[in-house]
Amino acid sequence: MTQIIDPDIRKAQTLPSRFYSDESTFAEIVSGFSDCWHFAAHESQLAKDNILPLDHMEFLVGESMLLTRDDTIRCLSNVCTHRGMLVATEACCSSTLRCGYHGRTFGIDGSFRNMPEFEQVEDFPSPSDDLSSFDLNHWRGLLFAGNKPSRFMNCLEELKGRIGWMPIESFEHDPSRHRSYDIDANWALYVDNYLEGFHIPYVHGDLHEELDYDSYSTELFEGGVLQVGIARDSESCFNLPKSSPDYGQSIAAYYYWLYPGLMLNFYPWGLSVNLVVPLSVERTRIVYHGFVWDRSKLAEGAGGDLDKVEAEDQGIVEATQRGVKSGAYDRGRYSPTRESGVHHFHRMLTS
Ligand code: FES
Ligand SMILES: [Fe+2]
Repeated sequence: MTQIIDPDIRKAQTLPSRFYSDESTFAEIVSGFSDCWHFAAHESQLAKDNILPLDHMEFLVGESMLLTRDDTIRCLSNVCTHRGMLVATEACCSSTLRCGYHGRTFGIDGSFRNMPEFEQVEDFPSPSDDLSSFDLNHWRGLLFAGNKPSRFMNCLEELKGRIGWMPIESFEHDPSRHRSYDIDANWALYVDNYLEGFHIPYVHGDLHEELDYDSYSTELFEGGVLQVGIARDSESCFNLPKSSPDYGQSIAAYYYWLYPGLMLNFYPWGLSVNLVVPLSVERTRIVYHGFVWDRSKLAEGAGGDLDKVEAEDQGIVEATQRGVKSGAYDRGRYSPTRESGVHHFHRMLTS
């Protein structure tokens, strides 16, 4: 699929519409997600509960997983080794994992503990009766998991240099900020829309009043894109330390996107994580998690009314899905000044 997207944005055409509507193209792209690290959770989601199922992983990498915490945090298979029931279906606090189907129990580390009515079974238990484990990576309180992942963990280096001064590991999970929306659109259309601020004046009237459109910037790096929103009103911006490369600027938001569907939106109040989870070729789940740093800034600035911005974006993305299926449309062109992030994403999708 090389060179579907010209590397020169001035010459390039956008992604062919089959990428948004064709089943086999969708299946091929999503099968490549197994190579990637994916956001699992922030450690503060394991502060009260010590067992946390990761429903989104099933759609991203085809494995049902859960996190458990005792003195360490582990990522385990959420599939019971008896007949395959999911071990945990919601977050909870317990000293063991117990399957709700026939009562098989496992330690928090996934090791087999007990099974009723199995006294006569030969060569039992064996290591295959333990829950298998998956790779887990920690960065500043953010946990990343995958099924033999190899790509894109290095893009966290980008965040380290830019926003590593924030105390991300001490941000606190706020369950009241959790949202989950299922929308009628392909996952990549949702990402396309996220990767440009071009539409802000047209689609997000209130957000447009917060951000200085002319100063909005887009930076590309391997595995992701950073968009920086500059505040019109210098009160709703970060109090940047001298160690920040952006010291002296009125930054309202750092919008990081990491391939394929992770959005880390840093605002003066904290972090809003958006997960883009493909359910099928034309159906996508958008999951929001909020982690609060400074509660007094929650209602302010670019990160103030995320529900309104989300509803505006969803309306656009669902209507665009209807449009790209038209026989009258296949590809468009990019604005070199406003759509470099979308171009970068499309190149990643097709290389
Ligand atoms: S499937 Fe879990 S105990 Fe039977
Ligand atoms: Fe938007």
